[in-house]
Amino acid sequence: MNAPWDPGRVAFSIDRSQSTPITAQITSTLRTAILDGRLRPGTRLPSWLDLAAQLGVSRGTVKAAYEALTDEFLVFSAGAAGTRVAERQAPRPVAVPTIDIPRPLQDLERGFSLKPLPFQMGVPAQDAFPAKIWARLRTRACRANAMAPLSPTDPRGEPELRAQIAANLAITRGISCHPDQVILTSGYKNGLALTLLALGAHGRTAWVEDPCYPVARQALEIAGLKPVPVPVDAKGIRVDHGVRAAPDAALAIVTPGQQAPTGVTLSPERRAALLAWAAREEAWVIEDDYLGELQLGGRAAPSMAADDRSGRVIHVGTFSKTISPTLGLGFVVAPLSLAARFGEVAGYLNPAPNVTTQLALADFIGDGHFLRHLRHMKALYRERRDDLHARLDKDIAVEAFAGLAVIAHLPKGTDDLALAKRAPDLGIAPAPLSVWSARPADAQPGLVLCVTNLRKPLVDKACDALAALIGDRGATLVRAQAA
Ligand SMILES: Cc1ncc(COP(=O)(O)O)c(C=O)c1O
Repeated sequence: MNAPWDPGRVAFSIDRSQSTPITAQITSTLRTAILDGRLRPGTRLPSWLDLAAQLGVSRGTVKAAYEALTDEFLVFSAGAAGTRVAERQAPRPVAVPTIDIPRPLQDLERGFSLKPLPFQMGVPAQDAFPAKIWARLRTRACRANAMAPLSPTDPRGEPELRAQIAANLAITRGISCHPDQVILTSGYKNGLALTLLALGAHGRTAWVEDPCYPVARQALEIAGLKPVPVPVDAKGIRVDHGVRAAPDAALAIVTPGQQAPTGVTLSPERRAALLAWAAREEAWVIEDDYLGELQLGGRAAPSMAADDRSGRVIHVGTFSKTISPTLGLGFVVAPLSLAARFGEVAGYLNPAPNVTTQLALADFIGDGHFLRHLRHMKALYRERRDDLHARLDKDIAVEAFAGLAVIAHLPKGTDDLALAKRAPDLGIAPAPLSVWSARPADAQPGLVLCVTNLRKPLVDKACDALAALIGDRGATLVRAQAA
């Protein structure tokens, strides 16, 4: 396969006025000639020196062009026999499957990477994200990380960050833990996955609150556990119901700080009863502390992990609400008896996410930005919630403040799922309340109105859209403009 070089087959035109470097121009000319067959496999390219002289460029420029083509497997160096055009496989057409693969979370998310609409859950105030500070800390972390010697990183997360989180939890959530009990994750869902892997409770039953974050129920099923719904009242989860329905459950997933979605705080008696059950049955309590200290009415209640004398609570935290889901960072605090097990599972199956982001977050907490940011967010969300509340009918519609949202109940029989599906056409994205219930068909319908991104200028328009969405009932739900 030795074909001679035929200069007539390749027309070089070097243009020094172009912004494209000369090396790239030579590479491109030769690439095109190889791909369209003018240069056949085996053709020997001119030596660097000959082509450089012909084109009036340096020998190094031609060498760099040949190296680029070698990297693309279009030519190869044949030693003393020079550089030759490589044999190529005829490209095989790639068959694109025609079936539609459904995207995940269809019932919970209206789509991915969309601009958040008023009332949408799950996105903290975008206008209050500390972008400047974060960009500075991240750049610094990126530089430090790039210069660091290459050695395996701790799968539990960077020691600096785990120490900062442990120190911060002592202040904000009353938790006393060793940094090696803290394992970094990419958020709540990942923390739950890590926990379920570490506990190995496949095939067992698990209590879930009713209503609860739908992700928890579904996640348990995917992980091979059987969720048992346990009702929630004004004091939180009905532990007595749980004990009757599934006394030997392997675990309970609860949101004791601010129940999702009702917002109630688990009462001291219920906390004690839940911990006593877990200690008695050697069950685990998975504490989803998704809002952490972000409690709009004063100081948040301490976490359950703070009261856990028997080492049965696995505390799952996230920075999705307190800073942003774009960080993709959360953590688990494992009880002492499970800390080594969690470390092993992280090491083999679930290592901590991106180191640069972890280092930036360690500085964000360590330099005092985190607590300052939390204080600012609480004040901002309180203001946004009150602005919305002033526009909603207090007597009829507003059942409760729930976490960072206001819950508006709708009359029985209202299809809240259909309303929520239609809402984005009107420029808003409230969540349907019934899907949080274990039996949506029997549940109280309603809309969850998240306030995080409800800036003052948006309130009137968003409330008008809400009134239009719920039609006849709008008159009782949303007050007139002047209110
Ligand atoms: C009850 C509850 N837990 C946890 C989360 C946070 O999940 P993640 O950290 O995976 O973003 C949310 C977010 O909406 C939530 O509502």
